[in-house]
Amino acid sequence: MQTILDDLERRRAAARLGGGQKRIDAQHAKGRLTARERLDVLLDEGSFEELDMFVEHNCTDFGMDAQHIPGDGVVTGSGTINGRLVFVFSQDFTVFGGSLSERHAQKICKIMDMALKVGAPVIGLNDSGGARIQEGVASLGGYAEVFQRNVLASGVVPQLSLIMGPCAGGAVYSPAMTDFIFMVKDSSYMFVTGPDVVKTVTNEVVTQEELGGAVTHTTRSGVADVAFDNDIEALLAARDFFDFLPLSNQTGVPVRPTEDAWDRIEPSLDTLIPDSAAKPYDMHELIAKVVDEGDFFETQPGHAANIITGFGRIEGRTVGIVANQPLVLAGVLDINSARKAGRFVRFCDAFEIPIVTFVDVPGFLPGTAQEYGGIIKHGAKLLFAYAEATVPKITVITRKAYGGAYDVMASKHLRGDFNYAWPTAEIAVMGAKGAVEIIFRGKTPEEIAERTAEYEARFANPFVAASKGFIDEVIMPHSTRRRIALALRKLRNKHLENPWKKHDNIPL
Ligand code: HXC
Repeated sequence: MQTILDDLERRRAAARLGGGQKRIDAQHAKGRLTARERLDVLLDEGSFEELDMFVEHNCTDFGMDAQHIPGDGVVTGSGTINGRLVFVFSQDFTVFGGSLSERHAQKICKIMDMALKVGAPVIGLNDSGGARIQEGVASLGGYAEVFQRNVLASGVVPQLSLIMGPCAGGAVYSPAMTDFIFMVKDSSYMFVTGPDVVKTVTNEVVTQEELGGAVTHTTRSGVADVAFDNDIEALLAARDFFDFLPLSNQTGVPVRPTEDAWDRIEPSLDTLIPDSAAKPYDMHELIAKVVDEGDFFETQPGHAANIITGFGRIEGRTVGIVANQPLVLAGVLDINSARKAGRFVRFCDAFEIPIVTFVDVPGFLPGTAQEYGGIIKHGAKLLFAYAEATVPKITVITRKAYGGAYDVMASKHLRGDFNYAWPTAEIAVMGAKGAVEIIFRGKTPEEIAERTAEYEARFANPFVAASKGFIDEVIMPHSTRRRIALALRKLRNKHLENPWKKHDNIPL
């Protein structure tokens, strides 16, 4: 019997060694952890339960029948993060470059199927040379099986991708269909075609990092959410992030005990808005003062920073926060910010996470770049997302809410549940000067100034909107957290359903 047990241990040890010490050393030399070391950081100590450790590929071409490594380049299973169940896969670059074979794909599919069955999130750690070249179409089929499951799981269980090495070709589309993507700076990249193909086809010369590195995707393209300096930082952040997420669309948000009083008053908020309407202020300050212990996990901080999205907690329960940022482009809505916030709102709605919206928006960004780029369709994404969302929606207008952007930002008309305004709010079709220049075109500068003052007196306040019931209450800035907490309590049993449909037709 002992020999049988010893044999199992020997097999396990061989599997844990992946592609061997030399390749592990090479992985470390690149500043990267191995697949298993990453899982050790991501999951609670001792919680990882591995599946399919002895799965091997079934390829016989190109000498592959002579090379079998147990596990076939991906470590899969489940574990816990701060006690909550999660299914994981971690690609092992030391085994055939982490490339995806048919069996490798089957392992990923198995844990995805299980996650869907029991209602738990999936976190994928991606580090792979792409399709297993020796396997050809079998590997492509494997990818498509994963893609199909990404889609079926979307909106049912949260899916998070960490890109910790190469991710190229069609392989990028699995992470792209997950809810959030974290990347590691200088060691991960994502692109559909690499620099060599780009050079051949378009004659552009570009490095891997410039084309698809973490900075590129978390600033320019917006494909990824957050960039981290190294593997450890990314994995620890993933643990923090996971704590905000529901396990599935059936569980509701997690609750974490907090010492932060629900009715905490913040007198400093009474002076947050500058005296001049043209002066910016940092919306992060309001968010930090409203959420429990100032703990806010921002998604896409480097992309479309004119809108802020991310998760915080009120009374220990997760809320999604969307806020215009007056510090960047005066908080205007444009193509990127509408796409960014629209996708975030839809995530929250799919997973029953209440949405708190802070509004200070001067309107949509004018210009040919925006119009030719399709601001009409892209802006409509955010409008559509807010309008279809049935989760609790609480809106606080701090200053400007002009034009169509007023409507878009979770207004009463889009079924906002509690719509508050600070006394500093200005709710109008546009700013006073612009409005007067249109309706009093050709008048003298004195008359324009007079009419501007008149328009400001009429609309540069929240009371016209409040008199119509579009604003439920004008609140003191210092009591914002208390008001939001009370509103969320009232909405805890909110039930609202949209008409039956197969699915909607959001302007993609
Ligand atoms: C099989 C692969 C592999 C692959 C790497 N390896 N990629 N084996 N299939 N796709 C193996 C290498 O042979 C090598 O084996 C080991 O992994 C490490 O690779 P290196 O090249 O030594 O590492 P490095 O220099 O760090 O370069 C990494 C790399 C490069 C940039 C990823 O390996 C590379 O370009 N690989 C091919 C990428 C590719 O074209 N993939 C197909 C994309 S198309 P040894 O034994 O020497 O250690 C695709 C389609 C998906 O993925 C479609 C989905 C719909």
